[in-house]
Amino acid sequence: MPKRFWFVPVAILGAAVLYRSRASLERIVANVRAFGLPSAGMYDVAAASLLSGFYSRVASDVVATSPSGRVLEVGSGPGHLAVRLAQAASNLEVAGVDISSAMVERATRRAVETGLAGRVRFEVGDVGALPFPEGSFDGVVSTLSLHHWPDPARGLAEIHRVLKPGGEAWIYDLAHGAPRLDRLVETSPFGGGEVEVIRWPGSVPAFVLLRLRRGAAAQAS
Ligand SMILES: C[S@@+](CC[C@H](N)C(=O)[O-])C[C@H]1O[C@@H](n2cnc3c(N)ncnc32)[C@H](O)[C@@H]1O
Repeated sequence: MPKRFWFVPVAILGAAVLYRSRASLERIVANVRAFGLPSAGMYDVAAASLLSGFYSRVASDVVATSPSGRVLEVGSGPGHLAVRLAQAASNLEVAGVDISSAMVERATRRAVETGLAGRVRFEVGDVGALPFPEGSFDGVVSTLSLHHWPDPARGLAEIHRVLKPGGEAWIYDLAHGAPRLDRLVETSPFGGGEVEVIRWPGSVPAFVLLRLRRGAAAQAS
């Protein structure tokens, strides 16, 4: 290469570095929007140590009502709860859906490593357009995901659609939005439901549970 073109490889290298850091920055911003931390790996480690007792509690709530059949977990993250559900009820099939492909990869690995891949499966999808036909599930559960959904009303309508008539949804989220959630539930296709403050850990009112049932004679929304 003639000496006067020395800057060409430098410019190419610079552009590649800038492109890579811009792509990583965009990924970090998308992750923070979807689950509050820069990477799925960080979330997985934090959830495993901080939320273990919470997942046990949710799994026993869900299994008490839906000990068999098909349950969908929306915003399934790294798959801790889905695996707990399948371990707690040997006749339960669990589908998980999450907008983050990095979360879906982790969750799928967890199902394989725990020997549950035959009953626990994950796929990428948005709660605003769930990739399942109407009336596919006996129950739907979601934890700590609702406050990340861009359109929670649309999310509830989709959850209503994929539930079988008579099926139940348990949506757990942070308690700080509870008054707004009352209204969200009333105006959803469920037409109402229970909004209950959950005291966990200990007596801290940190979480809220929306307990919703699709009417037995409900039509598609
Ligand atoms: C705080 S994490 C909770 C993960 C898991 N449910 C748990 O309790 O450990 C929120 C999860 O919701 C997912 N999520 C956010 N927006 C979503 C959407 N529109 N549709 C489906 N999943 C979504 C995120 O990717 C993330 O895995």
